[in-house]
Amino acid sequence: MSRTPRFLIRTYGCQMNVHDSEKVANLLHHAGYRAAAEVDAADLLIINTCSIREKAEHRLYSDLGVLRSWKALRPGRVLGVAGCVAQQEGDALLRRFPFVDFAFGPHNLRLVPEMASAAAEGRRTLHTSELADVARFDLPERHPDYQGASPGRAYLTVMEGCDMFCAFCVVPHTRGREISRPADGIVAEARALAARGVRELTLLGQTVNAYGRHDLRRGHGEAAGTLAFAELLQRLAEVPGIQRIRYTSPHPLFYDEALIRAHAEIESLCPHVHLPVQSGSDAVLERMRRRYRADDYRRLVERLRAARPDLAITTDLIVGFPGESDADFRDTLALVRDVGFVDSFSFKYSPRPNTRAADFPDAVEAREAQARLEQLQDLQRALTLAYHRSRVGQTCEVLVEGASRHGAGQASGRDPHHRVVNFALPRESAARPGELARLSIVEATPHSLIGELDVAESVPEVCSAVKRDARTADGTGRSAAVEG
Ligand code: SAH
Ligand code: SF4
Ligand code: F3S
Repeated sequence: MSRTPRFLIRTYGCQMNVHDSEKVANLLHHAGYRAAAEVDAADLLIINTCSIREKAEHRLYSDLGVLRSWKALRPGRVLGVAGCVAQQEGDALLRRFPFVDFAFGPHNLRLVPEMASAAAEGRRTLHTSELADVARFDLPERHPDYQGASPGRAYLTVMEGCDMFCAFCVVPHTRGREISRPADGIVAEARALAARGVRELTLLGQTVNAYGRHDLRRGHGEAAGTLAFAELLQRLAEVPGIQRIRYTSPHPLFYDEALIRAHAEIESLCPHVHLPVQSGSDAVLERMRRRYRADDYRRLVERLRAARPDLAITTDLIVGFPGESDADFRDTLALVRDVGFVDSFSFKYSPRPNTRAADFPDAVEAREAQARLEQLQDLQRALTLAYHRSRVGQTCEVLVEGASRHGAGQASGRDPHHRVVNFALPRESAARPGELARLSIVEATPHSLIGELDVAESVPEVCSAVKRDARTADGTGRSAAVEG
């Protein structure tokens, strides 16, 4: 009998990309592949790419520089490129890199096993057509041998694509039109995940709270099987075993009364939202085509906090957007201070192909953009630390993720507010990956909290299991998932 073929997926970009890699890993399990522990052991390597900023795109090109010799080293090795750069570049990618066997975009995941077989026969393939059909959500259930990326937690796709066309953003060009998945399929997947021990769901979509909006507006909701987003949350909250629900990324424009109320009423809905604001200047927001003003955002935050006073809000910010003046930037600092973000990702504007802003005049000088980024990040560090300090003395429940990066005897997990909490594992305890554990927060650091396990209240399980780092056991290379 021939040897089991091994695959590895290297993932860049956002959670949607991480989840696409999980879907591909699952499809490959169904096709008889198993995960390789490292790249040298892989017969099939897929790079799942991101194009959000120029630097992200360039990671692919520097990876390919190295992988040319990886491929040459052993005949029969197969190399594929997935994701947003594949979608954006299409055929040009295959022409420029003759040692790449196949390339495919986010709508064509299910064709991966076929493309890999074609490659084995020496045929190169490209699949970047846009499939405007909910059939693309119908993927096979988790293979019994496929564990998923992290114990106890799972991503769940509810919608894909984006119709917003913010002036800076490549996503509508790479992920295509907005499409919502029928609710019954979403709930069925949630049930299947819960049956396999998943306790925390993160609902995914490029503008996740726009879920169902096109169907509702056209009066198609029933026929399409979609609901209002708040109703979908309600249905998922009723799935036995699901103890935590998150969603990402929402757009400020798509918060209605019902969704705000959901934060007050649904107990399992976590007190954290990642709510990208991009800028605090009305002039910049207008040129970005974000469709809200800074004060609309402030008001939304007030309403959300009225519904859920302990809500932790994090955000994304861009500095150096074309035409951003000093005064515009000060407006951003003011908004960041007013809202008191618990954390934020901030980026220097990077011009992207096919986007409106790529042709805008008045580029901000690189040195100035860098100085603004640093100033913004200094402010954020202070806000994050202040928030962490405010949590000391409280108790919280974490979903244990695995061994902490801080070494032996340490575990880490996320609290409901999505903060990382590190804690020591006494020998006789208690918390294993995928389980909930109760902690007292005893110390604040700039990036995380330090907790002490409340042994009496935590689930009695063997602690040695924590040492298994389950995050790298699924072949999707999550350690490389964060793009900066
Ligand atoms: N769908 C999410 C954002 C996805 S992209 C939303 O609508 O908010 C993630 C983040 O990357 C964005 O929030 C933005 O802050 C940043 N980003 C997107 N395009 C960028 C560009 N051209 N230059 C710099 N940052 C960018
Ligand atoms: Fe990009 Fe804007 Fe769509 Fe977010 S809402 S994915 S920033 S176009
Ligand atoms: Fe995500 Fe990057 Fe594509 S952020 S949608 S993988 S461009």
